Amino acid sequence: MANVIVVGAQFGDEGKAKVTDLLARNADVVVRYQGGCNAGHTVVANGQTYKFHLIPSGIVYEKKTCILGPGLVIDPKALLEELDALKERGLDASNLKISATAHVTMPYHLTLDAAEEESRGENKIGTTKRGIGPTYADKCARSGIRIEDLLNEEVLKEKLDFMVPRKNVLFDRLYNLDEMDVNEILKEYLGYAQRIKKYVCDTSALIFEAVGEKKNILFEGAQGTLLDLDHGTYPYVTSSSPSAGGACVGAGVGPTIIDRVIGVSKAYMTRVGEGPFPTELVGAAGDRLRETGAEVGVTTGRPRRCGWFDAVLGRYSVRINGLDCLALTKLDVLDDFDEIKICTEYKDSVTGKIYKDLPSIGSTFQQMTPVYKTVKGWKKPTTNCKSLKDLPKEAREYIELVEEQLEVQVAIVSVGPNRDHTVVIEDPIHGPKRVLTKPATVSSSS
Ligand code: GDP
Ligand code: IMO
Ligand code: MG
Repeated sequence: MANVIVVGAQFGDEGKAKVTDLLARNADVVVRYQGGCNAGHTVVANGQTYKFHLIPSGIVYEKKTCILGPGLVIDPKALLEELDALKERGLDASNLKISATAHVTMPYHLTLDAAEEESRGENKIGTTKRGIGPTYADKCARSGIRIEDLLNEEVLKEKLDFMVPRKNVLFDRLYNLDEMDVNEILKEYLGYAQRIKKYVCDTSALIFEAVGEKKNILFEGAQGTLLDLDHGTYPYVTSSSPSAGGACVGAGVGPTIIDRVIGVSKAYMTRVGEGPFPTELVGAAGDRLRETGAEVGVTTGRPRRCGWFDAVLGRYSVRINGLDCLALTKLDVLDDFDEIKICTEYKDSVTGKIYKDLPSIGSTFQQMTPVYKTVKGWKKPTTNCKSLKDLPKEAREYIELVEEQLEVQVAIVSVGPNRDHTVVIEDPIHGPKRVLTKPATVSSSS
């Protein structure tokens, strides 16, 4: 038995849902621990493509308990739309559980997200405009509305009577927007509450019980380590803690129940929204990765920025998350490249200093230029490879290079979007930890 955190090791969209879906075959419980409907998670299985925003990817299987933990921010309208869409597709959501203490995205959060972005002008974050930042901001200010509040009309009205006039001052004075009406919001949200109340419970207690019964629990991250509020490229981050530490806080479990942490990384790199991206490829090379990898955001439909694999950020992600293995996804996207680059260190374009690890002063990040190692491409299709030995030699060498650079084992290689387009070297839920066969070559910070 193993309880495993699946965490995005880059800027989000690494293929976490594909990996979660794959591992979920051996799991009993799948928990989302942070974020909200800013996430866009794609699972391709049983001849179907599913796109999830709030619902854990384990829902594709029958009889897996799927939990939205206390660390989430939930837009009930978006949740109900997602549930309706699932039902139409024949997926059963009766095993969905929603934490009573998760926070609720209200209409004023959505309006504020858009208004704040607009007012930032050139310094915008490039958010998904799903109200994520404002909902977490109210949570931290202890003015948030929780799922349990929706279930109690009196409490909800009292909270709205306090909050809405305050938001209206902002709308009127700062943003020149129409005011909102307490009673309209109350009516709308009490309606949502009627539909979601059957799913609401103490999810932390449920997980604790599952741990006692030695069940396998998967923690499905949203976003990625470099979008983490504390550890990402602040301020170009999301407002939650996607990194592995966030799983314990966001799910309401202690760290001692976690057995493994698997980081999900693309074999190259993408980012949606603004913020630093040292290995970004602009022009034709970036377009080629974007087109081959079909790199378009699931939630917003924005084209993703694309670039080469960045081992400096990879090592940082290993450190921040305590990764003990990696799922390397979208290897097939590199199938036709003559040469593939991997950034092994940064050079400070002002001081000339070489960095093997991320410089600790965030503002210097913009000065970093990547130093690349170039390797030969394999120029063969990999999508039907089922084991390491099926992969072309150069592809295996590329995987080894990633392992060497990050000093972490690759446990899963994904070679296509489908569940079965996967090379499982060892299943983190069942297999033993694999020890790197090659000596690590990476020295510490220079
Ligand atoms: P997530 O947010 O981390 O779950 O990732 P997304 O679903 O936003 O984006 C990953 C995209 O890549 C989806 O369209 C997946 O279907 C697709 N995908 C995942 N793994 C692979 C792979 O190995 N190869 C290819 N070609 N596509 C993949
Ligand atoms: P998944 O779970 C990629 C990005 C946004 C923006 C920043 C802040 O599919 O990997 P927010 O709406 O959270 O306030 O936006 O974070 N972002 C994501 N990028 N994948 C995601 O989720 C993302 N969720 C948010 O583009 O740059
Ligand atoms: Mg995504």
